[in-house]
Amino acid sequence: MKSIVVDILDKAVDELDKNQIEEILEQPPKPELGDYAFPCFRLAKVMRKAPNMIAADIYEKVCQDERVADTFDKVETNGAYVNFFTNKSIFAKSVIEKSKSDNYGSSDLGKGKTICIDYSSPNVAKNFHVGHLRTTVIGNSLYKIYSKLGFNVERINHLGDWGTQFGKLIVAYKNWGSEEEVKAKGIEELMRLYVLFHDEADKNPELEDDARAWFHKMELGDEEALSIWKWFFDISLEEFKRTYKLMGMEFDHYTGESFYRDKTDDVVKELTEKGLLTESEGAKIVDLSEYDMAPCLILKKDGSSIYATRDIAAVEYRKKTYNFEKCLYVTGQEQKLHFAQVFKVMELLGNDWAKDGLVHIPYGLVSLAGEKLSTRGGNVIYAEDILKEAISKIKEIIEEKNPDLSHEQKEEAARIVGVGAVIFNDLYNQRIKDVSFKWEHITSFEGETGPYVQYTYARCSSILRNVNDFDINGEIDYSLLSDASSSELMKEINRFEDIIKEAADRYEPSVVARYAVDLAQAFNRFYTENRIAVDEKDVRDARCTLTYITRRILRDSLDLLGIGCVEQM
Ligand code: ARG
Repeated sequence: MKSIVVDILDKAVDELDKNQIEEILEQPPKPELGDYAFPCFRLAKVMRKAPNMIAADIYEKVCQDERVADTFDKVETNGAYVNFFTNKSIFAKSVIEKSKSDNYGSSDLGKGKTICIDYSSPNVAKNFHVGHLRTTVIGNSLYKIYSKLGFNVERINHLGDWGTQFGKLIVAYKNWGSEEEVKAKGIEELMRLYVLFHDEADKNPELEDDARAWFHKMELGDEEALSIWKWFFDISLEEFKRTYKLMGMEFDHYTGESFYRDKTDDVVKELTEKGLLTESEGAKIVDLSEYDMAPCLILKKDGSSIYATRDIAAVEYRKKTYNFEKCLYVTGQEQKLHFAQVFKVMELLGNDWAKDGLVHIPYGLVSLAGEKLSTRGGNVIYAEDILKEAISKIKEIIEEKNPDLSHEQKEEAARIVGVGAVIFNDLYNQRIKDVSFKWEHITSFEGETGPYVQYTYARCSSILRNVNDFDINGEIDYSLLSDASSSELMKEINRFEDIIKEAADRYEPSVVARYAVDLAQAFNRFYTENRIAVDEKDVRDARCTLTYITRRILRDSLDLLGIGCVEQM
């Protein structure tokens, strides 16, 4: 339908090409403005004419196109707009025919192209906290979105597993730690030791030198240093994987900072050869003052590499190994400068692709707004605890709403809906905005929430379960879907393809989350206004068709967010 409108406009407008027309063509939210609206403001600049006069001219030309009479109930001008009112049956047919296929929304746009996504990346020996929950769910959703568009995606977990902090940890462990405590308490104990190190180093600064020496040993490959580090690494990864498993998420590569430890020498060599490295107070830096940026530190005074050095090595490795079209980095906004520096250095090294190929995807903070969240040692909030708490809260609600479900069904529903509720809350607002964390909102079955969308999905499932003679491939009478709420629902269904592309273009899962709520709301209005399981078979079939399609798109939208569904909850 949209392509017909674009085609007709293309014939009527010489000043814009098809892509430009498609770009500015709108789908108005109010039915009285038509199904498609073409604004003439942009043309006014080129044609030096008032937009409403241009609209009138275009209208004249459009009306001469013979397809107009067949496709539209009417076309009219409204100020600077040309509005198209599609014929309800033709519209219904076109939407349903394309959307009833199982892979509606998928495309091969990204065929043969690879996207690397660097996300989650928690720090070894530190807890997986709420901030890491955000990068994890945003990155995972981008993975799903790009995969749906046919891209090959490499999911990379750039663990923070190298650096001076491990020297400190080894010193603390050797002085004040015990194997039993670390074995028993894992990350919690490692964090205690780390804090203790800083307290002690305030009194006794020589400890800092010891820490540096231990990290230096790690960099030189010292066996004892590396075996303690590896032990801490294994403990941490096991805990992280527990959280990923709870969320149903996986990675293709756990290549953290330590993976690049034998690759940083080459970075230094290349920077030196290309004359980019300068000395500053004993350290080696790349001067970026010409670009209004602080210098990028490459080697510390003692010759050890840092975060940025390893990131530069990582870009080179990934380009060589995956030949990515784009490499995305999902981290908090506070790392904006870091990535700007790394990307600039890559550009200065003569990599033209760095300009468009490396993208930082920042996000806002999670604000707890006085909410009491369970904490472990030292008042630290673990993502795992939040997820578990969500599961138990949802379990109570399900217990009350649907006591007849079996124990297993309740357990499964609570896990999927509980985890989904937290993820959805994280993805609903534009990623750059801060997310507020309110249990009451997150777990609500009403409003703009995960449980609301999942509940609507379960409602669709239940409707279809109770109709036993419905076949999605059967003939339907499209004229039976001309009422307002059916039309509105089909308009939502029609948007799904564009929504996925928009989410990908803007690296913005919230586009999908908002769409899922819009679709669920449109369905629930349709459901309130139309009885679905009516006696007349043709009406029942037509309405079941919309229910079937809605159910599948809700499931696919949730899946694009990294959230599952259950048939009953
Ligand atoms: N470990 C870092 C942190 O927790 C995030 C790493 C992001 N990725 C990267 N390539 N620097 O802040």
